Amino acid sequence: MTRLARVLIDPDALRHNLQRARAAAPGRRLLAVVKAGGYGHGMVAAARALAGADGFGVATVGEGLALREAGLSAPVLVLEGPAGPAEVEAAAAAGLAVVLHHEAQLRWLEEARPPRPVPVWVKLDTGMHRLGFDPAMAPALAQRLAACAAAAPPPAWMTHFANADDRDDPLTTEQIRRFAAAVDGLPGARSLANSAGVLGWPGSHGDWVRPGIMLYGASPFAGATGPELELRPAMTFTSRLIAVHRRRRGEALGYGGEYVCPEDMPVGVVAAGYGDGYPRHAAAGTPVLVGGRRVSLVGRVSMDMITVDLRAHPEARVGDPVVLWGEGLPVEEVARHAGTIAYELLCHAGARPASREVLGPECT
Ligand SMILES: Cc1ncc(COP(=O)(O)O)c(C=O)c1O
Repeated sequence: MTRLARVLIDPDALRHNLQRARAAAPGRRLLAVVKAGGYGHGMVAAARALAGADGFGVATVGEGLALREAGLSAPVLVLEGPAGPAEVEAAAAAGLAVVLHHEAQLRWLEEARPPRPVPVWVKLDTGMHRLGFDPAMAPALAQRLAACAAAAPPPAWMTHFANADDRDDPLTTEQIRRFAAAVDGLPGARSLANSAGVLGWPGSHGDWVRPGIMLYGASPFAGATGPELELRPAMTFTSRLIAVHRRRRGEALGYGGEYVCPEDMPVGVVAAGYGDGYPRHAAAGTPVLVGGRRVSLVGRVSMDMITVDLRAHPEARVGDPVVLWGEGLPVEEVARHAGTIAYELLCHAGARPASREVLGPECT
């Protein structure tokens, strides 16, 4: 028997969200970010459904090779770049483009003798302060790369936003300004925008946009949900009720007995827990859909189960379908109750691959 907790992936929703990104950034090339197992949706399945993109963004050379092994021939960009000299050769052999964000990577490229030149994207640190070269180095980097036989000319130029999820944060405008000043007059494509940039910062669209989270149907903005941005959830995390009990007033539920029933009440047990990717820190009151009706999580999340207060749905029965998030229940709402973000919930829910099912044809 398969586990009742299942993650259903909807390729149509992925395609819809891709069109939404295209409409928000018309005329730009689009790199669909499918790293981290396609944000939990299955990297290869997501890439196949998103075949209408102009290329794919992955974190590592290993992820890029997995796309190639699955037969995907579209451009692939390794967002963290090579992790060592051998990865320069591997990327070249597989036709992967690589980000260069550090002097060490540039040296590996300069010392490499790959079978063919590697397309390179140079990452400038315009204010995120995680990865990237000092923007003032851009002209010197352009010169070094022009002299580097292993690099396909010209390099593309990119940066990444720190706070674009907050439409009022002035840092994004400043990052756009610093980037434009740094690459002024240099040949090569420009790329700045993640999902928040695509939807909220039209001045950041450049030549290539790089959406991730919005393709999966979740909002990149705090305080908004995917459906509010005309996105469709690509993942629905489902399960079933495996028990319904009538609890007495004063009875404490589950590990730690944190929730004490305030009155005699029906309590349901759902077959999904943190072992399936449901967040262990989801607080009492987190919404859950049972038979399409909203009820609340109560008690601690266990490895394989959660308990729900069924007072709002007393007719609920064993076997009733449950939605933990997805269709009818935005993942952002659950994330807020769990003190986290949709990105983390989606990535974790897809971590038990046996539970993931792709609905319908991946490609049309
Ligand atoms: C360099 C880069 N570009 C684009 C993205 C996509 O970001 P988002 O999922 O917020 O659209 C990421 C994801 O972290 C990234 O690291």
